[in-house]
Amino acid sequence: MIFALIVAAGKGLRFGEEIPKQFLMCKNRPILYYTIKAFEDNKNIDQIIIVASPDYIDLVKSYINKYELRKVTKIVEGGSTRQLSVFNGLKAIKEISSKGDKVLIHDGARPLISQNIIEDNILALASHSFVCTVRSDADTTYLSKDQKSIDSILNREELFLAQTPQSFDFDEIYKLHFDAFKNNDINNTDDASLALKNNKKVFLVEGNKYNFKITKKEDFHLFELLI
Ligand code: CTP
Ligand code: MG
Repeated sequence: MIFALIVAAGKGLRFGEEIPKQFLMCKNRPILYYTIKAFEDNKNIDQIIIVASPDYIDLVKSYINKYELRKVTKIVEGGSTRQLSVFNGLKAIKEISSKGDKVLIHDGARPLISQNIIEDNILALASHSFVCTVRSDADTTYLSKDQKSIDSILNREELFLAQTPQSFDFDEIYKLHFDAFKNNDINNTDDASLALKNNKKVFLVEGNKYNFKITKKEDFHLFELLI
């Protein structure tokens, strides 16, 4: 079984609207709809689990019904950090998973995820237990320790920007989350960093620029232009 776990329990503080960014409307549909729809449309994804904050679970349910997103089997309460939200989703999957299952963990706020990226993640899972989508950047990248002047130029070939999906053998990532939670290590910003911390080899899959995360207003404007 291949699960998609979409985390959408954030508050969108940097975005700065009353309503969390993933529920903003664009072309009459919420951002989160576009994210879910990409996984709904992928023939290799069996089930989709959504994580949302308690205040928005009913809204998510109404969207699932309205837009007939049939692969969504569970809507789970989020936690106070992204990591805790992911862990809640993983716990819900644990109840229905069996050995060898895979999970693609994706940000609800990345609505322009392509079928190619989803496919490449699934393909990579055939031979790797830990997979992370990344993109390289064409711009020259500087290191500035005081954030005012340049100290050095970083080697562009060696630099990658993390995206999602980050995809895993289910049992492996569940164990890492379980142990991290037990140790009160709950602030890792993504799942690949948790894997890295545990000395796991994380295999890279190529993402693209469109798969950006809506974080600030300018990202939403870009999304509106692209959709
Ligand atoms: N997320 C989550 N639970 C949290 C925090 C984040 O499910 N406690 C989700 C967000 O909804 C988003 C993804 O993780 O889809 C990436 O997080 P981010 O872009 O940081 O979103 P927010 O935390 O909502 O934004 P901000 O950090 O600006 O408050
Ligand atoms: Mg955040």
